[in-house]
Amino acid sequence: MTMCATKLVKNMQRSLVLVVTSVAAITPFQSRSESAVSNNTQCEYVALKTGHPDGILKQYCNRQIAKVMGWQGASWLDRAERESEERTDQLIDILNVKPGMIVGDIGAGTGRLSMLMLDRIKPTGQMWAVDVQAEMVGRLKEIAQKYPKHQFEVKQATALTPNLQSASLDMAIMVDVYHELEFPREFLEALLVSVKPGGTIVFVEYRAGDPKVPIKRLHTMTVAQIKKEASDVGLVFEKVVSDLPWQDVVFFKKPLLTKK
Ligand SMILES: C[S@@+](CC[C@H](N)C(=O)[O-])C[C@H]1O[C@@H](n2cnc3c(N)ncnc32)[C@H](O)[C@@H]1O
Repeated sequence: MTMCATKLVKNMQRSLVLVVTSVAAITPFQSRSESAVSNNTQCEYVALKTGHPDGILKQYCNRQIAKVMGWQGASWLDRAERESEERTDQLIDILNVKPGMIVGDIGAGTGRLSMLMLDRIKPTGQMWAVDVQAEMVGRLKEIAQKYPKHQFEVKQATALTPNLQSASLDMAIMVDVYHELEFPREFLEALLVSVKPGGTIVFVEYRAGDPKVPIKRLHTMTVAQIKKEASDVGLVFEKVVSDLPWQDVVFFKKPLLTKK
């Protein structure tokens, strides 16, 4: 079988899993309880009949996906104490974005971190602030007006894609976002297409299992889980930085050559 044919068969198998699990969502006797965790070696979706109240009754790669943090909670993202609690200043240092880079802030929310990153990449760099909620996109567009044309661009994402051009980003960063993507596999695959070969994708997630992190369980992730899900779509692990009080920063590379 050629490489193309192998990939096609793999994609068909994945689609089948998706179809089966969507059917399960409307067919009660096929649904599973949260405890019915499969031992999949590959990441797959499973519809749940019951689950954690903070989740969307859908499991991916043996973790329940969290509900999206609604725009009504935007003030929490902009709270003054966030800098000292989460050391956002240190996070920006860790991300190490440089002048001239084209950076995607994926799930940008109120744009607080997009602006901090833009300070490091301007005047020649460009920020793409992306969000799925129209209310967040509206706020981001207001921010964009304060900058020179094309320096702060805004994109409306969908559940499946960030809607960015192919091979356009040097770096894509998701701060407190990945755990609430409704279709993590498809979204990550589409994000991978938007990143240049050899470019970087960074996951910033609240540390699971750490009693000092005052965040709801489904809104936290372990580094092992992030690595598993990222490598399952072909990302190459680079490093993890665990110096922040609440979050792990996990860096991956898009391979220079991707399989056809
Ligand atoms: C907890 S907020 C974090 C916002 C920002 N990254 C920050 O740290 O200030 C998560 C954001 O991810 C966004 N989000 C969820 N699913 C998304 C998707 N499929 N595409 C783009 N953004 C998404 C939500 O709308 C929300 O604004």
